[in-house]
Amino acid sequence: MSAPGVSRVQQIGEHAFVVLGYEPARQILSDRRACNNPSTAGVGEDPAHNGRGVSMQVCDGAQHTRLRAMIAPALSPKASDAIIAGMPAHAEALLAELGEHGSGDLIEDYIAPLIRRGIGRLLGIPEDDQARILVIAEDSTVADETGAPAADALYDYMSALVRSKIEHPGDDLCTELARALTDGRIDEAEAFGTATLMIIAGYDTTVGFLAMAALTLLLTPMLRQQLVADPDSNPIVVEELLRFITPTKGVWTRFATSDIEIDGTTIPFKSQIIVDLMAANRDSSRFDEPDVFNPARNDDKHLAFGYGTHFCPGANSAKRQSLAALNALLPRMESMELSVPVSELQWHQNRFSRRPLTLPVTIQR
Ligand code: HEM
Repeated sequence: MSAPGVSRVQQIGEHAFVVLGYEPARQILSDRRACNNPSTAGVGEDPAHNGRGVSMQVCDGAQHTRLRAMIAPALSPKASDAIIAGMPAHAEALLAELGEHGSGDLIEDYIAPLIRRGIGRLLGIPEDDQARILVIAEDSTVADETGAPAADALYDYMSALVRSKIEHPGDDLCTELARALTDGRIDEAEAFGTATLMIIAGYDTTVGFLAMAALTLLLTPMLRQQLVADPDSNPIVVEELLRFITPTKGVWTRFATSDIEIDGTTIPFKSQIIVDLMAANRDSSRFDEPDVFNPARNDDKHLAFGYGTHFCPGANSAKRQSLAALNALLPRMESMELSVPVSELQWHQNRFSRRPLTLPVTIQR
């Protein structure tokens, strides 16, 4: 990735640059001159006017800090305990059912329902709506003709959900947003935009990571055997899987509010900046043999959750959920195999992530 003489910051369009290396990525992601709201750099409309709300992902400074603080209690380790506590039993039940059938789809029958329940509880989405809304949430991230209508439908649903919590409060994040709305600490666009961001940021990413992790493990039986023999190593395996897979391949676009010099390249004022997290996590100047999956490197300073002020606030929860899912899955994988060749797998892709659409497996009884 970092061949001598090749800059790790490349121009990819008239006003667009991509940052590829580990250190340059950390620099740009902690540089306040690279902002998230295009209108701050004078290069586009304020996202507040797009009709789908405002979220922390597209704002900077005091507004960003205020919106982040609003979701922080719901993602604290203590609040996550309640979600994680129910996961092992749910995981066992789903895997037992899959085992009884003798075959199934590891995503639809295991990963998706497991993660769905957690994000559903976090946000206070009624159980009967969860499956339908999360399909819409996934569709909303795809850049084809289904994307825009799904994004509108999702925003409408989350707006109505937050409004409904004013009359019917629960113990969930949408209730918190409804309270903040009633108290005037947040406006409607911010409350609805935040609820919509949380469902997309929390679900698609974690399901995508676990799907890619399961595929990696299905294809490496020797690694699986090692992990089953030494389950205490699972937390560092999760870190290495996060680096190796990098489920969110890039961050939200940044915009230069002045000329920014980085890795010997000047990114001019008003440029768009894309940070390639996948490339940063495979940068040989930071990771020895970066293309080798090697849990023994025991290194959690990868950039799979970004860096700087927009660092993923759900990172801790995502790691704990992933660990619970893999702890239950790994011992069962001994009798599991992919039932189609890898080349026949179909893929779900959007601007930020990619994962197999399904993971058909057969289970020996
Ligand atoms: C494996 C799972 C996950 C991955 C790989 C991931 C990755 C990321 C990355 C790379 C960013 C930074 C984006 C940027 O700088 O523009 C981010 C931001 C964010 N993530 Fe995650 N995420 C995951 C799970 C979650 C979960 C479970 C939640 C919440 C339930 C969550 C909520 C958010 C939010 C709200 C932001 C925006 C933060 C901000 O702009 O200040 N994520 N995530």
